Amino acid sequence: MSAKIMVAGNWKLHNTVEEAIALAGEIASGLMRDDVDVLVCPGFLALEPVALSLSSSSVLVGGQNLYWQDSGAYTGEVSGPQLKAAGASHVLIAHSERRLYFGESEKTARLRLEAALRAGIKPILCVGETQEEREGGQTEGVLQSQLSGALAGFEAGQLGDLLLAYEPVWAIGTGLTATEEQANQAHAFMRAWLESRFDKTVANSTRILYGGSVKPANAAGLISQPEVDGVLVGGASLSAQSFLGIIQAA
Ligand code: PGA
Repeated sequence: MSAKIMVAGNWKLHNTVEEAIALAGEIASGLMRDDVDVLVCPGFLALEPVALSLSSSSVLVGGQNLYWQDSGAYTGEVSGPQLKAAGASHVLIAHSERRLYFGESEKTARLRLEAALRAGIKPILCVGETQEEREGGQTEGVLQSQLSGALAGFEAGQLGDLLLAYEPVWAIGTGLTATEEQANQAHAFMRAWLESRFDKTVANSTRILYGGSVKPANAAGLISQPEVDGVLVGGASLSAQSFLGIIQAA
């Protein structure tokens, strides 16, 4: 749907600041495409140093999470304005690991979405079903409830910067990938939901990334699907060679 494909890397809890700068440098110097948006999401400590090291490259930098208050007595949290000032253009919201280990709910996802938009950072809202839910025929119901919960109260005009990531939980870090058809079908469902809940403009302008065991070998097939606007890569984004291989395949 989107004219420009995005390849995003989620580095999760990996890399020291020094290692993150080195990886970012390898990616920037090996990048041969300017028709693909490339985003890396380092850990918080490395975000600003990586953003500074990439300032003369087209590679974008994003956060992996943010808190919903802009400032205050919230020990240990990182806010939207802090991320923005550190150089983040995007932020992941409600990644399944946040849902699983850190109690993320639709309500907290919604608060984080609001905070990201308020700070001028493009949110990438992650949704996806578990294996059990897929086997129980609940995939669409789960996607619908995650989307409607996180986007409750929003109006179409507020969502120009929104991106979504379809990340089936059973495919994350497992080596199992959704088939091209499964990915395309889920994305089509999400886009249709956006149109019915908001309007055609939101449906057509929202990039929907696929995430879950994306590798150089399967990236081209997934990205060639009409409803897939890019990929969100975990494990394979930790090596410049495999991440660049995915970008080349896009
Ligand atoms: P994976 O992770 O590519 O290692 O499966 C994807 C993600 O968690 O975004």
